[in-house]
Amino acid sequence: MEKAVLYLDKHFPAGRIDRRLFGSFLEHLGRAVYQGIYQPGQASADEHGFRRDTLDLVRELQVPIVRYPGGNFLSAYNWEDTVGPREARPRRTDPAWSSIETNEFGLNEFMDWCRAAGTEPMMAVNLGTRGVDAAKNVLEYCNFPGGTYYSDLRRSHGWEKPHGVKVWCLGNEMDGPWQIGQKKAWEYGHLASQTARVMRAIDPDIELVACGSSTATMSSFGSWELEMLEECYDDVDHLSMHAYYGKFTGDSRDLLACPVEMDRFINAGVAMCDAMQAKKRSRRRLSIAFDEWNVNYHFRMSRSNPADWREWYLTSPTFEQFREKFLDALPKDPPYAWETAPHRLEDVYTLEDAVAFGGLLISLLRHCDRVHIACQAQLVNVIAPILTTDRGAWRQTIFYPYLHAAACTGSVLQTRVQGPRFESRVYGEVDCIDCAPVLSPDERTLTLLVVNRDLENPIELECDLRQFEGWQVESHLVLNHEDLLAANTEQAPETVTPRAAQMPARLEGGVLHAPLEKHSWNVIRIRDAATERGN
Ligand code: AHR
Repeated sequence: MEKAVLYLDKHFPAGRIDRRLFGSFLEHLGRAVYQGIYQPGQASADEHGFRRDTLDLVRELQVPIVRYPGGNFLSAYNWEDTVGPREARPRRTDPAWSSIETNEFGLNEFMDWCRAAGTEPMMAVNLGTRGVDAAKNVLEYCNFPGGTYYSDLRRSHGWEKPHGVKVWCLGNEMDGPWQIGQKKAWEYGHLASQTARVMRAIDPDIELVACGSSTATMSSFGSWELEMLEECYDDVDHLSMHAYYGKFTGDSRDLLACPVEMDRFINAGVAMCDAMQAKKRSRRRLSIAFDEWNVNYHFRMSRSNPADWREWYLTSPTFEQFREKFLDALPKDPPYAWETAPHRLEDVYTLEDAVAFGGLLISLLRHCDRVHIACQAQLVNVIAPILTTDRGAWRQTIFYPYLHAAACTGSVLQTRVQGPRFESRVYGEVDCIDCAPVLSPDERTLTLLVVNRDLENPIELECDLRQFEGWQVESHLVLNHEDLLAANTEQAPETVTPRAAQMPARLEGGVLHAPLEKHSWNVIRIRDAATERGN
């Protein structure tokens, strides 16, 4: 078996994990909210109409924070429509997704749902069709204790205590031509700054997220960040980044290699924040809120010829070229019927998607010193780890790497891997093995989250752990399947589930030997044996 050597040192942490790194996202899009988390009358629904089956799965994932209400939906969102007596709430067109929004599930229901799910809300203010005033009012409604128009309005609606929402996004993907109310970089930066100042006057404890580029392939990527940060750097706390990866070339190696692109993207985002800090001689240091990320391509590719995607991926470096050369040439979609809760973006994830997704989690963990928030997009039904029908809910393949990573707290250690590499036409040469080693806060458990991206061969991971004298391997879990395209479905929800490794990792003379199956996600837990003896 080929070998890869992993180097780590318990004295060299890459950073401490902010648990908000394992956040997620719920948008009023498709069946994410309606039929996903909320469905009065469904067999598992509670007295609020919250589906208990999805609540249980969200609690199992220990999702620390959930971004809401969008997404593209945000840019035409009127928060006032969503509060107060249900029967008085307006039905509205949602121009972002060409759907009907009933507003039956609104802001206060979301806060209640978050409490039930054991998670924290991350709200967003509409800077597409609205602006400073609406942002000020919704913050007052949510966070002000009482004695003012909007805080008393909240109390009159039945929510006596403030919701205490800590993190607020200033708009969504404001650089995107698809965004309702798209802005120029300086224009957005100025609006974000003005909005931030008013919001902080009402609640100085909030954290604010400014929109970075909506993808690294925007031709304005880089100049957008620098121009808009010029206007608002000292008023915000986080730079938002978004990325969706996929098997657009039809080659699994390109899918599995995508975390190297996430690494580069994060490094670029951090560099731009730090360049602006230096330019402004500011004491403020921004962190990254990677508040939309996932593997997302099945749905997009199902609408066209995969060969075209491949052609684009290999030849067009920017979104604009992609649009001109490919998207505009596609036969137009039939217009969407204006429905409530239509089936949209319901990607069914495969084993190979889960391995790529695990690699993306490793990349986020590797940058945990600067990425303090990340939101896997999205939580239920829409490009999600959880799928539902009227009958029940089940875990997609990507649920498992998410579950395993979100259970980790403490510090991520720096690593070097020396071992076999593979060639991706999109991303170049890539290590087959990637790993995030997480040392628990009490420094008595080391969890290695590891992917083997070799499609043909198992690889033995070797790691000198003599620093961890007296420790032992507690468990070695594997997520894998002979068929790269295996997926979980309502009829067969356990096709791809984690199991104990057939050849588990072992420690010999202080050296870890971990045989890693081809195309697999692995979780290896090593513990200080003294912990077991209660010392
Ligand atoms: O997550 C789906 C969509 O992707 C979001 O609404 C938008 O922000 C992004 O383009």
